[in-house]
Amino acid sequence: MPKLLPATPESLAEASRILGEGGLVAFPTETVYGLGADATNDAAVARIFQAKGRPSFNPLIIHVPDLDAAKGLADFDDKAFKLAERFWPGPLTLVLPRRVDSPVSLLATAGLDSVAVRIPAHPVALDLLRAFKRPIAAPSANPSGRLSPTQAEHVSEGLGLAVQLVLDGGPCRVGVESTVLSLTGEKPCLLRPGGVSLEMLEKMLGRVERAAEGGPVQSPGQLESHYAPSARVRLNALQAGPCELLLGFGPTAPSDCLNLSPSGDLVEAASHLFAFLRKLDRPGVAAIAVMPIPDHKLGLAINDRLRRAAAGRS
Ligand code: TXA
Ligand code: MG
Repeated sequence: MPKLLPATPESLAEASRILGEGGLVAFPTETVYGLGADATNDAAVARIFQAKGRPSFNPLIIHVPDLDAAKGLADFDDKAFKLAERFWPGPLTLVLPRRVDSPVSLLATAGLDSVAVRIPAHPVALDLLRAFKRPIAAPSANPSGRLSPTQAEHVSEGLGLAVQLVLDGGPCRVGVESTVLSLTGEKPCLLRPGGVSLEMLEKMLGRVERAAEGGPVQSPGQLESHYAPSARVRLNALQAGPCELLLGFGPTAPSDCLNLSPSGDLVEAASHLFAFLRKLDRPGVAAIAVMPIPDHKLGLAINDRLRRAAAGRS
């Protein structure tokens, strides 16, 4: 079982140290416990997906302690400022355009041009964010497909040693995840109902659209079009053809190509995936030829992402 500690100056310092070294720390928020990693560290974010055992990459919520920190990650318009003023700290996540100079890992935002941000209303979460001084990416701290944890013990039972430290802040007050509201389209759009009710949002915004199944909005599973680079993606390639660039994997890849992981490590490969696809997606490149990646563990999520990209352009 992982270490479970109440929040004290000492345990917060230890949590910051673990995060700074790229490790995982679970912490309480007012909604559910989060599985946190340094949001600016691709490898640390890859460990979140590994620990949760998700077969695909979902963009993660980035937690910050105050509005200034949030403004460093995303572009705020008047509506975003008003919502932040009214509901933060609290169970509302805003999906906003990602700042061009955002330090957030591309894996944490699944390669999207938007970023989901929130200031949690829990003293332990805020203390940790202030102590760490960097944004923390955190999905709910449960294995994929299981119930979200609302007590520290749920986290240690579910994730075991995949998490190094669990900060115990008692039971979560809200108990359901934050509301996710996208402000990247023409009109605000509810992507996930949660701790702030639709009625409360509508009081401020007027009618709020809800992400419809199959609609144009970017909720999970509907992200396909956003996932695709402009170049074609060719899977299971052993070498690059004319006008193609090779994205390598493992020790057999040619030494002059970008290699997701020369040693064949799937966590390392995941950490580089979105950044490397962007690098290779240049004008004049007809296709990105990707070497085979084993279809197990994080390889499942990597291949899921690559298949979507390949399907988008064939
Ligand atoms: O209450 C919560 O929100 C908890 C605590 C720990 O803060 N966190 C949480 O994170 O529930 P997660 O990763 O389980 O849920 C993130 C949600 C997903 O529905 C995801 O698709 C959406 O936010 N999301 C994140 N970034 C997005 C983006 N750029 N565009 C659209 N949706 C996004
Ligand atoms: Mg979750």
